[in-house]
Amino acid sequence: MYRNMIFIEKLHITKQVRQVMASEKARRFQEEGERRDVEAYARRAHREGISREEVAQYYTQWAKSNKYDMDMGPERYRGPRIAADCVSELIPDPRDSARILDIAAGSGFLGQELWTKGFRLIDGLDPSEGMIEAARKKNVYSNLICDFMSEKMLNINTDTYDAVVVSGGMGEGHIPCNALYEMIRIVKPGGYVVIVMREEYLEHVHDYKDKLEPLMKELEISGRWTRVSRRVVPKYSFENNGVIFIYQKK
Ligand SMILES: C[S@@+](CC[C@H](N)C(=O)[O-])C[C@H]1O[C@@H](n2cnc3c(N)ncnc32)[C@H](O)[C@@H]1O
Repeated sequence: MYRNMIFIEKLHITKQVRQVMASEKARRFQEEGERRDVEAYARRAHREGISREEVAQYYTQWAKSNKYDMDMGPERYRGPRIAADCVSELIPDPRDSARILDIAAGSGFLGQELWTKGFRLIDGLDPSEGMIEAARKKNVYSNLICDFMSEKMLNINTDTYDAVVVSGGMGEGHIPCNALYEMIRIVKPGGYVVIVMREEYLEHVHDYKDKLEPLMKELEISGRWTRVSRRVVPKYSFENNGVIFIYQKK
């Protein structure tokens, strides 16, 4: 009788150990899968020499069937939340009259975050038609502009926005360094430029290495803006650090 009880107890423990091992295996499998997904994304959307049109097409494919939203939720990619928190700290309540431009708006994650914080005049800009369509469905943007952010002058008046924000729009073949001039032009004097990006792109992206931060500095020296802060944050996307730049237009 006593032996039988020990036998049953052992069986029970073995079953529990097996369950723990299975869930550990499932977790590792998922992490491994996520790592592969990130690598595939980095290889394709951020490959060296990719043209800006190819980048836009890549995102349009990714937006199909809501796939971008399913892949890049807040548990994996914190950029939009981080960016919305920054903008909310800079612009206190009431926020409903502040004009914000979400640059590289994608499927509208940042617009949604800003909306929950009380912003009501949010415009979005993105060159990918598929992403713009996805963003439109979120019903938080007043205007959506399908265009590239570059050195080219946009069809937006000078001194329009209280803040322009970029979350995840910097990368190989994405927003070029010299787009900073246009960001400054469309922000009101005293308004803010907020850029949230992967920290390692400062080194890995040819267009940014030894160029992006020196240009930011140069614009400060020439009196176009002043730096409010530069902050590195952990786990911006997956396990990668992010860097947040905040500048104020003079
Ligand atoms: C990683 S997604 C980020 C989207 C969104 N901001 C978010 O945080 O979910 C990058 C976005 O940048 C956009 N993009 C790429 N090149 C751009 C450019 N030159 N100007 C503006 N947006 C660009 C892409 O179309 C894509 O929607």
